[in-house]
Amino acid sequence: MCGSLTLADSEYENKMSKTIFDRNPYQAFLAFFVLVCSTVIFLVFVVFFICLSGLEDFPLVEDEVPMLTEKSEEPVEKPILLLWFWPMGVHWNLELCKPLYNIDSCVLTADRSVYNKADAVIIFHRNISADLSNLPPSPRPAFQKWIWYNVESPTNTARIPGLENIFNLTLSYRRDADITVRNELTVLTSTEMDQEFVLPKKDKVVCWIVSNNDTKTGTSTREMFYQQLVKHIKINIYGRAFKGSRLRYKDYYPFLASCKFYLAFENSIHRDYITELNGPLSAGAVPVVMGPPRENYEQFIPANSFIHINDFPDAKSLADFLLQLDQNDEMYLGYFMWRRFYKAKPHLLTLQEEFIQPVCLACEYIARDKKHYKVVHDLYNWYFS
Ligand SMILES: *[C@@H]1O[C@H](CO)[C@@H](O)[C@H](O)[C@H]1NC(C)=O
Ligand SMILES: *[C@@H]1O[C@H](CO)[C@@H](O)[C@H](O)[C@H]1NC(C)=O
Ligand SMILES: *[C@@H]1O[C@H](CO)[C@@H](O)[C@H](O)[C@H]1NC(C)=O
Repeated sequence: MCGSLTLADSEYENKMSKTIFDRNPYQAFLAFFVLVCSTVIFLVFVVFFICLSGLEDFPLVEDEVPMLTEKSEEPVEKPILLLWFWPMGVHWNLELCKPLYNIDSCVLTADRSVYNKADAVIIFHRNISADLSNLPPSPRPAFQKWIWYNVESPTNTARIPGLENIFNLTLSYRRDADITVRNELTVLTSTEMDQEFVLPKKDKVVCWIVSNNDTKTGTSTREMFYQQLVKHIKINIYGRAFKGSRLRYKDYYPFLASCKFYLAFENSIHRDYITELNGPLSAGAVPVVMGPPRENYEQFIPANSFIHINDFPDAKSLADFLLQLDQNDEMYLGYFMWRRFYKAKPHLLTLQEEFIQPVCLACEYIARDKKHYKVVHDLYNWYFS
């Protein structure tokens, strides 16, 4: 039995035996077990090292994180601002907000086909027809804001009925408008402070650039005052009004700079309606202002940077004072002390450019203030107050 068994074993051995498995099943199993275990252990180590090297790679992954977020920020959609009317029919390149004011935060367009997608619509007051038929159509997207755009003074603003409760934002020169358009003084940088202000050469005492002879429109305060003043002091005048010749744009700032004083007379008198200052202040002439009270001016510019006509009992006293300053350099230079701390940036001159800044400011505003809900209820009660 044993022999046959042995024989059978040896036969089996002879026939089949080539491997260790056959020679000793227990050893074979052990070997197999060891192999499997070591493979598992090996794999565990491999995985562990991959993880380790992954950790080492982490800074690299982290390096990519800002790139990823940059990429994901790009598609964040800029709000669409639709210019409903070209103001007064004047066209310009809507891409100028970036080079002129470094404003690039909205998609600015005059293409009315995007109306239903527009986040805000800017509507120029003077272009609204009396029956309101040229306002954007209904239905109006719920998220959409309408911006009332008017930089004329109340005197020169028509009260078109029916504009209550349709606008969400106001764009005006007023400080209490949602979007305020003003040319404000800015604080000098430290390098600018080191540069000394050199007063431009002067060959004229009093100058005035005026394009409208107000006598015709009935708002003649400034023309009447001019008529009084000119009796006592020479006034160099430019502009369509008073038959003066027109000044070319390139001559505007040099002309202002050549004058000691400039008549910054507003066409009508209203709070915050101070529009004639920027030219003389940036060119280096002292503005002689007619407009709202001195206190209102002092909310925008230093008290000793201008001369207010209300500080004098009459035109003759003002003329005498200007002539006195003309003879006294020290007193005259006192009106430029503010330049040690502030500067006035020259404004743009062409008609297009008058409209560019407000529209660019609206672009910046709607990108910044997306969620705010607001309705302008009684537009005129506010504006004519
Ligand atoms: C806006 O007004 C100007 C001047 O009155 C005019 O030329 C222009 O056609 C008007 N635009 C629209 C769209 O009504
Ligand atoms: C302004 O216009 C009025 C009315 O047309 C005229 O009488 C007046 O002389 C004009 N003023 C000047 C200084 O030209
Ligand atoms: C804008 O005003 C309109 C008209 O009053 C109003 O229906 C709408 O909800 C307002 N939208 C926003 C975003 O303020």
